[in-house]
Amino acid sequence: MTAPTRTAPTPSFDFTTPEYRRDPYPFYARLRRDMPIVRINQGRRGESFYVSRYDDVMVLLKDVERFASDKRTAGHEVSWLESRLSLGVNDSMVMKDGADHRRLRTLAHKAFTPSRVAALERRIAQLSDELLAAADARGSMDMIADFALPLPVAVISDMMGVAERHRPHFHRWMKGILELDGAGWLELLTNFPNMIKLNRFLRELIAERRRNKGDDLLSALVEAEEAGDKLSFDELVASTLILLLAGHETTVNLIGNGVLALLEHPDQLGRLRAHPELVDAAVEEMLRFTSPVQLNAPRFACVDTELCGVTLRRGQAVCPILASANHDEAHFAEPERFDIGRQPNRHLAFGFGPHFCLGAPLARLEAKLAFRALLQRYSDMQLGVPRSELTWRRSQSIRGLTALPLRVRR
Ligand code: HEM
Repeated sequence: MTAPTRTAPTPSFDFTTPEYRRDPYPFYARLRRDMPIVRINQGRRGESFYVSRYDDVMVLLKDVERFASDKRTAGHEVSWLESRLSLGVNDSMVMKDGADHRRLRTLAHKAFTPSRVAALERRIAQLSDELLAAADARGSMDMIADFALPLPVAVISDMMGVAERHRPHFHRWMKGILELDGAGWLELLTNFPNMIKLNRFLRELIAERRRNKGDDLLSALVEAEEAGDKLSFDELVASTLILLLAGHETTVNLIGNGVLALLEHPDQLGRLRAHPELVDAAVEEMLRFTSPVQLNAPRFACVDTELCGVTLRRGQAVCPILASANHDEAHFAEPERFDIGRQPNRHLAFGFGPHFCLGAPLARLEAKLAFRALLQRYSDMQLGVPRSELTWRRSQSIRGLTALPLRVRR
């Protein structure tokens, strides 16, 4: 006889409120302690289970036989409207499983190997210096708008071969769309023109690259599509979008949240200044402590199954809370302590398993060079506004500041 399973608690909770965005960690600690699996209704996103403990998050990310990234593998259909509103992200590697996932990932992987990424070092260091010099010339600095965002955007745009003249519009449309993560249906529909413009832009970018191939990642993807059986046109658009999106959405928050963590822990900032060789470990701790991607993309139960003592029916969505796993006291000693020398530090900020972040080597290098440039240039950095005035982006899955005004001294 099998043991009876519990039902998951259904706390009423909104991941987008300003209170939660300001400090989600006490909420995660309560979940881990009392309700390691919960069922929460998130408006437009519908109802999902959420798991908060490290071990359950690992099961979800590793056990691909039971949990799929593609909702179609778990018996769902993707409606025409849903497909349009996701701009085709359903066709990208993030939402594929098995052989399709491997095929799409392999095509982009070459550009992100540690050796290819290391070759970008000089360019990233030069971009960092240029951006900081421009901020110095203005006399004040918003860490996000002046540095943390333009740096990774320029790097991914270079890698994909997006011409300088296209970057401002393209960035505007992208920004509108990124803010939709926590929005309701009305806002989503109002943003439709932005989506159409971005979609048209991606198609024009691809058409242009078909005419003029270069040495960039997009040319390699176009060649794969032209070869016939490796990549369909929709997948090409989706791959282009997902890479540009990831380049806009993630490293910015690692740098922004990381700077804030250092400012809030002056002993650790002093330690990093005294021991610059700790920068790699410091970036890992920033990833763990601040988790730029708080909620991973959901997984879908492929069969009726059990997780955390709760029965899940085929097709049900379960979302791993990476940020909570990264603060799980069962895996990290004193998890609320920010320790730039933490060893070991097996955080899940880049996910785990077959979908482990493809851009991790790039994000790590960008962050390392960004912090090196900042600390070398400025002998002093202070918050330019009281901590209580900082505002967080509304996104459900991403945690990042809308702005980070700083006073800096060379
Ligand atoms: C601090 C920076 C970053 C963080 C925290 C981050 C986090 C993540 C996470 C958690 C996943 C797993 C998604 C899943 O399991 O469903 C992921 C996947 C992915 N990331 Fe990142 N990411 C970062 C930077 C980047 C960058 C710079 C790029 C490339 C430009 C990138 C490209 C991707 C891609 C293509 C995937 C999908 C991989 C797959 O499905 O096989 N990421 N990332």
